[in-house]
Amino acid sequence: MKIFLDTANLDEIREGVRWGVLRGVTTNPSLIAKEDQDFLPLVKEICAIVDGDVSIETASDDTEQLVRQAHDIANIADNAVVKIACSPNGFAAVRRVSDEGIKVNVTLCFTATQAIIAAEAGAYIISPFLGRLDDIATDGLRLLSDICEIYAIQGYQTQVLASSLRHPVHVVEAARMGADIATMPFKVFEVLVKHPLTDAGFKRFLDDWEEAKPHLGELPPSMQEA
Ligand code: E4P
Repeated sequence: MKIFLDTANLDEIREGVRWGVLRGVTTNPSLIAKEDQDFLPLVKEICAIVDGDVSIETASDDTEQLVRQAHDIANIADNAVVKIACSPNGFAAVRRVSDEGIKVNVTLCFTATQAIIAAEAGAYIISPFLGRLDDIATDGLRLLSDICEIYAIQGYQTQVLASSLRHPVHVVEAARMGADIATMPFKVFEVLVKHPLTDAGFKRFLDDWEEAKPHLGELPPSMQEA
């Protein structure tokens, strides 16, 4: 399962890239608005930093306008993926631009039926929003499981991107269910590698190493410095 960051913050994205595991980024109008930067330079920079898909969202529910926006977004960079929301006009645009070879991420998916229509329309990615369903007392993971199962049975090539993730358990369950991608805020990404026993164990090893060093004979230079 590929790990994406759900952010438009350059520092967070650079840090994810530094870890060597970031495979893509998802943005949306709310995340872009938080950054208080000009749209085009910001998304161009994100596309330049990330070696993987960068989803950039359209802002319309008119098919013709969506098609024009999709062309503009796809021209931003080779790794730009166009986000279009689930709606009849949106799906009409998804069909048209997907047929031209543009990669589309169908966003704001809250039902398995929307996911089926997205795949039939030729979407490159479908984004079920787990956390927002959980927020209204509906099981977001159940939706993800349904979509993964249906896509496997039907042989759809559309990638399933588990979105609106709120905590590490969402990430683990998304991987267990066979999601292709999980996108998450930086604070969830950071927590994925944290464990107090790791921190305590690591400190103990380093302390013991320092104590033992004088009695270990000749060491490789890099371990002498450590
Ligand atoms: C995904 O593409 C969306 O940008 C995102 O996951 C929405 O998450 P939220 O519900 O935390 O806003």
